Amino acid sequence: MSQSDVLNKIVSLTKRRGFVFQSSEIYGGLKSAYDYGPLGVELKRNIAAEWWKYMVHEREDVVGIDASIMMHPTVWKASGHLATFSDPLVDCLNCKERFRADKAPKRAPGADAEWIKGGKSGGQKTKGSVGVCGYVCPVCGSSELSGERQFNLMFRTSIGPVDPMEDLISEIQDKQLSRVQLREKLEEAIRSSAIYLRPETAQAMFVQFMNVQQTMSMKIPFGIAQQGKSFRNEVTTEKFIFRTCEFEQMEMEFFCEPGSQKDWHQYWTDNRMSWWKRYANNKDSFRVRHHEKDELSHYADACVDIDYLYPWGWDELEGIASRTDYDLSQHAAESGVKLSYFDQQKVDPSTGKPGVRYVPYVIEPAAGLTRAVLAFLCDAYSEEQGIDADGAEKTRVVLKLHPRLAPYKVAVLPLLKKEGMPEVARSISHQFYQAGINSSYDEQQSIGKRYARHDEIGTPYCLTVDHQTLADNTVTIRDRDTTKQDRISIDRALEIVKDRINTF
Ligand code: GAP
Repeated sequence: MSQSDVLNKIVSLTKRRGFVFQSSEIYGGLKSAYDYGPLGVELKRNIAAEWWKYMVHEREDVVGIDASIMMHPTVWKASGHLATFSDPLVDCLNCKERFRADKAPKRAPGADAEWIKGGKSGGQKTKGSVGVCGYVCPVCGSSELSGERQFNLMFRTSIGPVDPMEDLISEIQDKQLSRVQLREKLEEAIRSSAIYLRPETAQAMFVQFMNVQQTMSMKIPFGIAQQGKSFRNEVTTEKFIFRTCEFEQMEMEFFCEPGSQKDWHQYWTDNRMSWWKRYANNKDSFRVRHHEKDELSHYADACVDIDYLYPWGWDELEGIASRTDYDLSQHAAESGVKLSYFDQQKVDPSTGKPGVRYVPYVIEPAAGLTRAVLAFLCDAYSEEQGIDADGAEKTRVVLKLHPRLAPYKVAVLPLLKKEGMPEVARSISHQFYQAGINSSYDEQQSIGKRYARHDEIGTPYCLTVDHQTLADNTVTIRDRDTTKQDRISIDRALEIVKDRINTF
């Protein structure tokens, strides 16, 4: 099975089984926007809940926030996003494709290039040579390209009952303006009421640093965590839910004493890797990649990516950056509010007196939640060859999701839709509903088809009510991964499933 087949099979399974749908599908869909269906939302929420438990609830030194998606526009000036959060865009003068220069196929400057004139609809072979830029169009291969333009990735909108267009019309009416002047006026009018959809959840943790530190009496080192939606007007959206314009992040800003950042960066890199591997079948499909010096942002003194081996190769899942005191210092300078920490435990070396004030350094583990959904789906997808009841070869598709991530923890299945079996099965299901454990009561189709369906959606355990149940109050419990069945008493079913999920 080729790697692109694997991705196609996962995309098809997630649609067929209610994990992920194309957004606005009945209208032809919206490119690169996806809706999480009944099983997808469970998987996504389970991943988010595991992250929150691990990063916040199981620690004394991390607290959470849930900030507004829309923030004061100056936040993005201070953070550098307004000036530098952009992709280099190029237009192909042949097929009119607009693409990212840094992602385009590389060719040696001066090398031969060949393409079909007019793109797909054209026909004549044309030759040229690659320019000094060192790339060609990713669609038609042409070297006839526009120059690079910086395209800001933030979604801009406006707030309040202002209509910047009215003011603009009065201002430009009857004036002879050049294209450049007109563009400047337009920018100015829009900017006056502009706000942005956040391109990362991180900035709220810097902006609310003092509020959180003081209200919760947090002592350095400590972290602030947040999960939520982020938005980027990505030029290249690709590979299903890997890169989308609307996505979810799970980020934590860990504030530490300057000088301790190297140790904390190593600590969080190890810590985050062990979290990913905890839920993985193929632990070697997760790796740490250290950024080269020339890859580092100007404010970072170290950075690693946690990469996953997706069907198309290694690619980013989480970034862990050591961001120095850049963000707090920038926001302090822009807002005029002191964003620092007074450490009473330390002695000030310049005075010899107790207490030192400093701007904390920051380590930032920043993971993509929607990207995690894709990575765990890829890790869980497996096909096993077997023989069915009639002796024919068959392929068993199993989603080997970790039980704590699986949408349903258990399915309760009456063998037959008669002889009182549905009633007993419903009463078992009821116990799971009452305990808040997501379970599925399923009586449609043959038992074999039901097992296959639950294998495909990753349900770790199936409880089957059969003839023997009616005689001795026992059910079978079937394990998704081994297909092995044991008999257990109904009275212990809830406890056994809970134990298996918790000790997995
Ligand atoms: N605050 C730092 C930050 O946002 P990032 O590397 O740009 O860093 C962190 O983003 C994570 O968010 C990435 O590792 C990735 O998992 C996820 N992510 C970023 N852009 C994404 C997109 N367009 N679609 C889906 N996930 C994305």
